[in-house]
Amino acid sequence: MKLFDVYPLYPIELVKAQGVTLWDKKGQAYTDLYGGHAVISIGHSHPYYVAKLTEQLQNIGFYSNSVIIPGQEKLAEKLGQLSGYPDYQLFLTNSGAESNENALKLASFHTGRKKVVAFKNAFHGRTAGAVAVTDNPNIVAPINDTSHVSFLPFNQIEGLEEGITEETAAVIVEGIQGVGGIQVAGTDFLKALRKRCDETGAQLILDSVQCGYGRSGKFFSHQYAGIQPDMMTTAKGMGNGFPMGGVLIAPHFKASYGLLGTTFGGNHMACAAGNAVLDVIKEENLIENAAKIGQYLMDQLSLFTSVKEVRGKGLMIGIEFEQAVGPIRDTLLFDHHIFCGYAGKHTLRLLPSLAIDQKVADQFLESLTQVLKA
Ligand SMILES: Cc1ncc(COP(=O)(O)O)c(C=O)c1O
Repeated sequence: MKLFDVYPLYPIELVKAQGVTLWDKKGQAYTDLYGGHAVISIGHSHPYYVAKLTEQLQNIGFYSNSVIIPGQEKLAEKLGQLSGYPDYQLFLTNSGAESNENALKLASFHTGRKKVVAFKNAFHGRTAGAVAVTDNPNIVAPINDTSHVSFLPFNQIEGLEEGITEETAAVIVEGIQGVGGIQVAGTDFLKALRKRCDETGAQLILDSVQCGYGRSGKFFSHQYAGIQPDMMTTAKGMGNGFPMGGVLIAPHFKASYGLLGTTFGGNHMACAAGNAVLDVIKEENLIENAAKIGQYLMDQLSLFTSVKEVRGKGLMIGIEFEQAVGPIRDTLLFDHHIFCGYAGKHTLRLLPSLAIDQKVADQFLESLTQVLKA
């Protein structure tokens, strides 16, 4: 059998990883400023994380959600404390799309409404509901195309009053658009969304799959705006590579047996990963580190004359160039052995582990200087 060929691949086979470093099978080392697409939050193969997952696997790897899984309650408790949402409830899933799927469903159950407002250039995942609120017709199959969703301009307050009505079940927005090119949702915009949702009863969902879990320099990027959503969705950095996601749900949502469900969500191994990640984030002050190193990088990058714009918060950084970014990214990877991401044709995306230090930041800045000079 052949693989279903949907991913364009770099000719690189990684065999080992530690902290911010990756090694391929020829022994070549790489610096990882991409974090496997914002997934590696505490660094690759962190010894505490490895020990906790190993210990869990030696005890029990999996049982279904029909029994008590103590790691779930521990995770909910720690996540509530560290994120500043101790009175919210947690539903555990396996991915970002599944988290958004469940949040949309919950908003619809709660309000009895069908309509959803999303935003231009949004990306929320590829499952039916998540892709329907994603602004990319190329990945929306006819079966996912629905008239229930409308797309409003991102970061524009004008038009929210007409766009969000008493028929709207949910408003879903990324705190910082990732695939859309690292566009930060402004404070006034988020406040206006909160206000309009309060006026209409629509439920505000902050998709924090990419920008959450400390990446922005706060646990959730919307905390810069001082608003409280009705739900936040997470995944990526939550398990540092172990597939898991979650929906943080405000107290006014009432749970009932069977309302939501999943076979794998919140399994023993996922909880071991999720708890280890939160322990390390707290113990090593990684949120503060993300804010500090992120600010340093953004300050330095804004001094580059050949950079058109630097956007982001913490360690979620977009560097926009006039020229196409593909060759810059490839030279960084193949000549300087640095992994970066991209968004669109002109924006380089940095999504490294929250544990990177200034030395790594300086190494990147030096390499970028050389690439742009060449
Ligand atoms: C903001 C956002 N939401 C949702 C998703 C979907 O997450 P997953 O690929 O885990 O389903 C992504 C993935 O890139 C994302 O960036």
